[in-house]
Amino acid sequence: MDKIVVEGGKKLKGEVRVSGAKNATLPIMAAALLTDEPSRIENVPDVQDVATMLKILSFLGAKVDYSDHVLEIKPGRKLNAFAPYHLVSTMRASFCVLGPTLARCGRGEVSLPGGCVIGARPIDLHLKGLETLGASITIDHGYVRAQSKNGLRGGVVYLGGKFGSSVLATANVLMAATLARGRTYIECAACEPEVVDLADFLVKMGAKIKGQGSHLIEIEGVRKLRGVQHTVIPDRIEAGTFMVAGAIVKGSDVVVRGCDLDHSRALVDKLTQAGVVVQRMESGARIRRNGTLRPEDITTHPYPGFPTDLQAQMMALLTVTPGISVITEKIYPDRFMHVSELNRMGSRIFLEGSSAIVHGARRLSGAPVMASDLRASAALILAGLAAEGTTEIQRIYHLDRGYERIEEKLSLLGANIKRVKA
Ligand code: EPZ
Repeated sequence: MDKIVVEGGKKLKGEVRVSGAKNATLPIMAAALLTDEPSRIENVPDVQDVATMLKILSFLGAKVDYSDHVLEIKPGRKLNAFAPYHLVSTMRASFCVLGPTLARCGRGEVSLPGGCVIGARPIDLHLKGLETLGASITIDHGYVRAQSKNGLRGGVVYLGGKFGSSVLATANVLMAATLARGRTYIECAACEPEVVDLADFLVKMGAKIKGQGSHLIEIEGVRKLRGVQHTVIPDRIEAGTFMVAGAIVKGSDVVVRGCDLDHSRALVDKLTQAGVVVQRMESGARIRRNGTLRPEDITTHPYPGFPTDLQAQMMALLTVTPGISVITEKIYPDRFMHVSELNRMGSRIFLEGSSAIVHGARRLSGAPVMASDLRASAALILAGLAAEGTTEIQRIYHLDRGYERIEEKLSLLGANIKRVKA
């Protein structure tokens, strides 16, 4: 297995460009199945999760072609409304093909996604929403089977769970509702920019949607949707990862190009409070950190709160911030697999329930560490940039799921980082 090797302590200088948003691309790829006409999607990131979704779309019968960040999807007239375990189990987001296949074919069969290291990853809200639209759902032998003999009909569904709204449940129900008879209201809908981008794609296809980006989305079903061209929004989590990279080594000066700062307000607020200079630019942000950082108390929340997908990266920054910081995880209470690895690098982080107490300002020391999930991998790289000596990160297939050539992008900023082939 490949590994990434980082020699820490180098100041980062220069400009890095953000790729398209993985978490907008994946539901949009599923939404393309809502018509038999071809769609062209641009600014699609070259990451493993997109490759997995391409396999799933092909398995469902669509013709797909991906090159140079442009994706052509030809769903065709006949869909095979079955997504198998060996594909769905590798990526939870695959579950959002259920809504489109159900809406297009009147049925869908998708493997239960199973959990992952960040948490149980239940799907009860997805099923609640699709049942509200008239689907009859059974679960057996590890598969969810949904049917709607007489077609889907509009309804009112509250999609708030005990951890707040659900991004992909909102996506699944939103997509299905576009072809349902009548009007659908999604209450406590997710407001993430990726949901808004999905809604923008659906509206281009001819869907009638209002309220995207708020907690109440209204959909008026239509009979047919058409193929379209769309450019995916920038990846705010990748952008946030690079903003933290620009702050973690004192004296760095980094321009993160192509990001939309309006999607990163919570992170910018916390970085600014910590003493990082974040300067809004024409198409991006300039990040500088010259002084000593200040400790922070951070709690993750659904958008526009602090994103859980930047929790691990922010923790890496707080390990080199003098004082005591507290990070509380309200979305995935167990999302702390990176803590033990950061402690192997000399940080002192203690877990207390769903909070991590970070005793910062210790000089991190490079060490061999193990990636456990996508964002934890990024956090270990960030820590390696600041650590004294060499950090080797194993199992970087986690990283490749959601970051496009991150080691090349960081090298362009002057980091001493390389990928070592197994
Ligand atoms: C999306 O996952 C993202 N993935 C995740 O990013 C992100 O961490 C998450 O939203 C939260 O922002 C994609 O968009 C592909 P949820 P999703 O449904 O939609 C609970 C990354 O690193 N819940 O919003 O699967 C759930 O357990 C990934 O790029 C239910 O209880 O997350 C969690 O606690 C990791 N029942 C909370 O809601 C359900 O039916 C939010 O989950 C669904 C979810």
